Amino acid sequence: MRIAQLSDMHFVAQGERLYDSVDVNAHNADIIHQLNHLIDPIDAIIVSGDITNDGTKPQYQAAAKILNYARCPLYLINGNHDRTAAFLEHLAPLCEPLLSAEQVRYRVDLAKRTLLFIDSTVPEQTYGQLSQATLDWVAYQLSQTSLPVAIFMHHPPLALNSAHMDPINCQNGDKLLALCEQFSHLEGIYCGHNHCYTTTFYQGVAIVSAPATSIQIPVYQRDATPSYQFDQPSCLIHTLSDDDRWVSFQHHFQLFQGVRRFPWVGGK
Ligand SMILES: [Fe+2]
Repeated sequence: MRIAQLSDMHFVAQGERLYDSVDVNAHNADIIHQLNHLIDPIDAIIVSGDITNDGTKPQYQAAAKILNYARCPLYLINGNHDRTAAFLEHLAPLCEPLLSAEQVRYRVDLAKRTLLFIDSTVPEQTYGQLSQATLDWVAYQLSQTSLPVAIFMHHPPLALNSAHMDPINCQNGDKLLALCEQFSHLEGIYCGHNHCYTTTFYQGVAIVSAPATSIQIPVYQRDATPSYQFDQPSCLIHTLSDDDRWVSFQHHFQLFQGVRRFPWVGGK
């Protein structure tokens, strides 16, 4: 069993570039192509939010067209750059648990784990917050499964030493972390949002932010100036060991840098 966790794909409309610079749609299409052709096949792809950059219809159309090339089930959640209604309208057909959903909150039993997918977004805000209904639902699901549990959400529930991103993490993450003390079979909380791979632990529970497929954000503990960098895009791949432990690693993609016109032709 191998699950790829992609994050922060930030699709733009077809023919456009992120910040008029980065050809994210081409990068993301190439990443799906690479995942489709790994020597060890991928059994499922999770995307942990910010699937589009602005939540517009053309961006979701581009995202759906490219994600639809994946040769395995997709499990999607939204991020602060998404708009929930448009996310559900355009992407639910690609994610079976979302087909009849009015919100982003669902459970999948996979890889000998119960996977919980939850919405941590607040409309029109970059920071995250979990509703009481979501917290209650997570607690209920934890009480209803004997399998180890992994939670997928966009905003990390605690600080990860990023002066830029920590102020806009999940503002009431402590309420989710309280469940770590209550339920010993909660194994990990896997997020996006930070555009870089970080790992920490809370009460023995792994708290992980996945790298982005679009642009990477450097982790500076003191410099909060928003900035990004062109590191090689990557994802996390979660695997199952013979003795039923989840083993995760960072998988780097070849960087497709887009097609450029020769300078004598003109244009980008
Ligand atoms: Fe993002």
